[in-house]
Amino acid sequence: MTISFPGAQPLTPPELLTPPSGAGRPRLTFLGTGYLGATYAICFAEMGYEVLGFDVDEPKIAKLASGEVPFHEPGLDELLRKNLAHGRLRFTTSYDEVAEFGDVHFICVGTPQRADGLAADLTYVESSVTGLASRLTRKALIVGKSTVPVGTAEWVEEIIGRHAPAEAEVEVAWSPEFLQEGFAVEDVLRPNRIIFGVKSDWAYGMLYASHKGVFDLAQTEDREVPIVVADFATAELVKVAANAFLATKISFINAMAEVCEAAGADVTQLARAIGYDPRIGNRFLRAGLGFGGACLPKDIRAFQARAQELGVGEALRFLHEVDLINQRRRQRVVQLAAELLDRPNGPAGPDLSGLRIAVLGATFKPNSDDVRDSPALSVVRKLHRTGASVAVYDPEGMSNAERELPEVGFAKTLTDAVAGADLVCVLTEWEEFRNADPSALAELVNGKRVIDGRNCLDQSVWVRAGWDYRGMGRPEPM
Ligand code: UGA
Repeated sequence: MTISFPGAQPLTPPELLTPPSGAGRPRLTFLGTGYLGATYAICFAEMGYEVLGFDVDEPKIAKLASGEVPFHEPGLDELLRKNLAHGRLRFTTSYDEVAEFGDVHFICVGTPQRADGLAADLTYVESSVTGLASRLTRKALIVGKSTVPVGTAEWVEEIIGRHAPAEAEVEVAWSPEFLQEGFAVEDVLRPNRIIFGVKSDWAYGMLYASHKGVFDLAQTEDREVPIVVADFATAELVKVAANAFLATKISFINAMAEVCEAAGADVTQLARAIGYDPRIGNRFLRAGLGFGGACLPKDIRAFQARAQELGVGEALRFLHEVDLINQRRRQRVVQLAAELLDRPNGPAGPDLSGLRIAVLGATFKPNSDDVRDSPALSVVRKLHRTGASVAVYDPEGMSNAERELPEVGFAKTLTDAVAGADLVCVLTEWEEFRNADPSALAELVNGKRVIDGRNCLDQSVWVRAGWDYRGMGRPEPM
């Protein structure tokens, strides 16, 4: 096991401490049962911990308690039901119960973008910490997992100082998470690193004991999980820096796609060729419609806002460019649609009225039902504004998408969506679309035109089946 303390000798794992509740292993609570908190609660119960999930949202807690995961994440339903049945996992809406039960409390609430600017909204962090701290009667560790602006952990300490009884000696730690939707179970059970932002040996020991299940699993599988022990500010920054890097990598390749479009080059070959250099690497180098979701877009904005407050706004000015490149890719699909459909692209955008467009994909990425800041839905909105009649189909994201965009048309199946279409746009790379048979679809459409917004289709197969194909950052096929 590798443990690194900045500027210090590698640490040996701490002795296992007895938790304040007196239980054999720390009892864990997860405050906020959205994507992050629910996944963590379920997976830590699976590793054998006694777990209590908390949320103020009663219907959500009722769903979880009855064995239903309120979002789509492969493998999670089964683990939820198994651990509920075993009795290790419970859910509640009571702060009193959380305070009474837990040794280590993980704050997993959302930190969305504020309505009045780029910064993160910390309302939920504040209310959950306040709600819990004021009910604590014995020592406990409060661990931040939510993605936050640097400096939040110190602020959480102040809140606790005001609300928790001094004799309880409640402590704070920060341990960011890196789970990706669609792979969340695997990312929690088998993380590629763990960060402990701590101020005391006790906090370090309790965090270690709370993650021992992760280390034990790694040991049985002959793997290593590196631990980085850091101060609060570094731990908080690790998360936003990682997401900023990933967003930058995607926008870098999408900027190359723009250049390829102007120069007649192919960005998919370019990405493959530069990705063979291990210093660059080929992951997160897929050019297309760009990044969306509840994390990368809002995290790079909140990071810029925080850097500005700290007087180092210039250091992150490039992230504004990363955002702009990302937004331009969405408009590019509308441009391509106008070109393919032979409609002029005027100052107010093209007029595509009278035409039918099938959109395949609504979620921000495949294997998820999440449509938050989805590039696909943003394009749907733009296409709808051109006057075209749009039919959207997505394997998992339909009900969320319909709630978001009730004004557009939705189809129940892929074939319903493409029937009679003048243009098909593939905007999320679901396996169902990648494996679709272009010859069979050709029979259903009005015009064999396809925009591959994720460069996920086999161009040569579609062209052979008679389709006029356009990718992102790729020349027109010969
Ligand atoms: C992201 C990070 O990858 C996680 O490490 C992090 O924990 C999480 O945010 C978070 O902050 O909670 P996630 O939002 O699930 O995870 O999605 P990603 O897999 O990162 O994809 C983000 C977007 O980038 C998607 O819209 C995807 O289609 C797009 N993308 C990804 C590309 O356009 N090109 C690529 O090469 C990769």
